[in-house]
Amino acid sequence: MSTTSYSAILFDDAETGPVVTEVTVREPAGREVLVRMEASGLCHSDLHVVLGEWPFDYRIVLGHEGAGRVEAVGPDVDDLAVGQRVIVNWYASCGSCRECDAGKPYLCVSTSAIDNVLPDGTTPITAPDGIEVRPLLGVGTHAEYSLMTREAVVPVPDEVPADVAAIIGCAVTTGVGAVLNTAQVQAGQSAVVVGAGGVGQSIIMGLKLAGAHPIVAVDLSDDRLEAAREFGATAVFRGDDPELNLKVAELTEGGADFAFDAIGHPSTSANLPNLIRNGGAAVIVGMPARDAEVPFLTWPLVAANKRILGCNYGSSNPAVDFPKIAGLYLAGKLPLDRLIDGHIPLGDYPAEIRALAQAKGRKKVVDYSL
Ligand SMILES: NC(=O)c1ccc[n+]([C@@H]2O[C@H](COP(=O)([O-])OP(=O)(O)OC[C@H]3O[C@@H](n4cnc5c(N)ncnc54)[C@H](O)[C@@H]3O)[C@@H](O)[C@H]2O)c1
Ligand SMILES: [Zn+2]
Ligand SMILES: [Zn+2]
Repeated sequence: MSTTSYSAILFDDAETGPVVTEVTVREPAGREVLVRMEASGLCHSDLHVVLGEWPFDYRIVLGHEGAGRVEAVGPDVDDLAVGQRVIVNWYASCGSCRECDAGKPYLCVSTSAIDNVLPDGTTPITAPDGIEVRPLLGVGTHAEYSLMTREAVVPVPDEVPADVAAIIGCAVTTGVGAVLNTAQVQAGQSAVVVGAGGVGQSIIMGLKLAGAHPIVAVDLSDDRLEAAREFGATAVFRGDDPELNLKVAELTEGGADFAFDAIGHPSTSANLPNLIRNGGAAVIVGMPARDAEVPFLTWPLVAANKRILGCNYGSSNPAVDFPKIAGLYLAGKLPLDRLIDGHIPLGDYPAEIRALAQAKGRKKVVDYSL
């Protein structure tokens, strides 16, 4: 069986951090697809791994937000052309559990993605020293190539640029989906978004698209708040403002219909119910450290009929929602290209993923042509 050798971002432990390493992947079998990556975005979920907040007891190839071209397919794939541009879906569903049958792949209980392996439970990647390396979420997109199951790739037209296609693969679908699918925001409803990174800005774009008003952005970074205004925020506040809750209540006449947490820190998640009005919904999109706990006062939640909603992948069906979002971008309704302010070579990734914590500028994308 032939193999392909290429550069990838390998992660072993938080002390060593991510490093560029040459790895090898076998050729695709069965329903597998080998993708030649064109672009992969830097998402805070990878930073959680790099900071040791989501520990694994094996090595992984990082990255889960990506796009590329089909390089080769296994013998059981007959609906993809070599050279076709595809967006990577980091939650490839099993296709046969009750949730998948119900058309809700984001709820799949049997996906192999969360174990960072292919559906057969194995990894196709080999490191030079022969020690097991798994692809993050079964896709490991921060690499020149990635072998994944057919369910993890969604074709997209060539008119959608590779960098935009890449960020549709996580931040954008998560954020826009949180608004349209999870919360189902209606025109004229108010919303506050806490955390204006790639996911938060995508929530803001989704809110503008849905006709929400007012749209309040909250962050600690002035860079990010300025960008939030461009994407549709009608008011911005600093997250460390001691009067934040009061100001949001004033602006929204008693609290927002929806509050979105796009950070996942226990302190921001815990405050979310305080930002919404009676009957409102707090939508938690940001991911915490694996062992984080958040205390809530249940009395005001019950008495005010408030709701707390979790949101995996924007409650999206990638096969349907990736092309839909790409179409909205091409129609000028989602300015996704403006979310990207830097293209970096793979070699800059180790420094740039740590820099993400400083919340400067917008989203960075690895460009494999650099
Ligand atoms: N639910 C999902 O399916 C899903 C998908 C993708 C990402 N995520 C998660 O979403 C979160 C955001 O990802 P991202 O890539 O947008 O991250 P990011 O680092 O780009 O953005 C986070 C933002 O939060 C701001 N922030 C931090 N602490 C704050 C505080 N106390 N008050 C106000 N603002 C504060 C930062 O300044 C930054 O702008 C991460 O936890 C990530 O793991 C979840
Ligand atoms: Zn992500
Ligand atoms: Zn399933």
